[in-house]
Amino acid sequence: MKILITGAAGFIGFHLSKYLLEQDSEIVGLDNLNDYYDVNLKKARLSQLEEHQNFRFVQLELADRSGMAELFAREKFNRVVNLAAQAGVRYSLENPHAYVDSNIVGFVNLLEGCRHNRVEHLVFASSSSVYGLNTLMPFSVHHNVDHPISLYAATKKSNELMAHTYAYLYGLPTTGLRFFTVYGPWGRPDMALFKFTKAILEEKPIEVYNYGKMRRDFTYIDDIIEGVVRTLFRIPHANIEWSGKSPDPSSSPAPYQLYNIGNNNPVELMHYIEVLETALGKEAKKNMYPIQAGDVPATYADVKDLEKDIGFKPQTSVEEGIQQFVAWYKKYYCLSN
Ligand SMILES: NC(=O)c1ccc[n+]([C@@H]2O[C@H](COP(=O)([O-])OP(=O)(O)OC[C@H]3O[C@@H](n4cnc5c(N)ncnc54)[C@H](O)[C@@H]3O)[C@@H](O)[C@H]2O)c1
Repeated sequence: MKILITGAAGFIGFHLSKYLLEQDSEIVGLDNLNDYYDVNLKKARLSQLEEHQNFRFVQLELADRSGMAELFAREKFNRVVNLAAQAGVRYSLENPHAYVDSNIVGFVNLLEGCRHNRVEHLVFASSSSVYGLNTLMPFSVHHNVDHPISLYAATKKSNELMAHTYAYLYGLPTTGLRFFTVYGPWGRPDMALFKFTKAILEEKPIEVYNYGKMRRDFTYIDDIIEGVVRTLFRIPHANIEWSGKSPDPSSSPAPYQLYNIGNNNPVELMHYIEVLETALGKEAKKNMYPIQAGDVPATYADVKDLEKDIGFKPQTSVEEGIQQFVAWYKKYYCLSN
């Protein structure tokens, strides 16, 4: 099976590619290697993937319409996983156009490629940020999500709508996965765990938003990968019970499905920091700040549908996951214990 993984030099794309290569899939990894964060980290991930014979890297911009059309026509992928995107809530306040280019224009190019080349299944990354102003917990894929509070979230919600349209019009099976704060080895330098670890080791203060009262459903990378792989091999069908009189947002009379992939066990930010301090054997200097624009105070994933359909739900504790991250961080940056 030939699989296109976009964002293969990114955090989640790297782990997914590595997992599927070890299962002997043929992987084409696409990435534009942009400098939103340390390009060397992206290249280091890629060089691990390039050790596998059944991996090929394509440096391409999702928004490059003709480049994308040519790639799809040439390669004839069986399945596609879209993990390339401009990520990050806070950056979207300063750089809105980057989100439109990668997440909207790029996503249309991807949908068109799938449509014209009979791709069997498109799986794409959405985000817990689509829950926006919702406060009914846990967040469920059956709830309405029409009140995003960042352009990032709005682009992710748009992806869900665009994917549904292609599922309906062209019968393209699509599955959208709403990831909840993913962390682990090879993680993203713009995210809290990475920034905190670096600052604590350098004995610099960390920035703690919402005075540490933020609650997040932190989800370990291996759990995310297990969820993505199982959904990739489960092509969605039309839901024959779906009714337009009470339209369920998570499914459709078209082959379209949405799932949350989250730990189903929210943790307060202060506790997350304590666990990190224990793993590092060092106390953090903390500067406390109010919540930032665009951020939601809490996330909590309802994963009942995921468990029912794919027989799996994330279960790694933050104690275990943070330890794995710290071990990787020290090894990668050649720090002694
Ligand atoms: N990490 C999380 O906590 C989290 C949570 C929710 C959703 N997501 C979503 O999951 C997906 C993967 O996230 P990640 O954490 O691996 O992010 P990442 O930034 O590490 O990976 C994304 C990769 O895509 C590439 N890319 C970005 N724009 C591109 C473009 N226009 N053309 C080609 N390549 C492009 C980047 O160079 C990067 O390597 C993203 O869609 C993100 O929005 C992540």
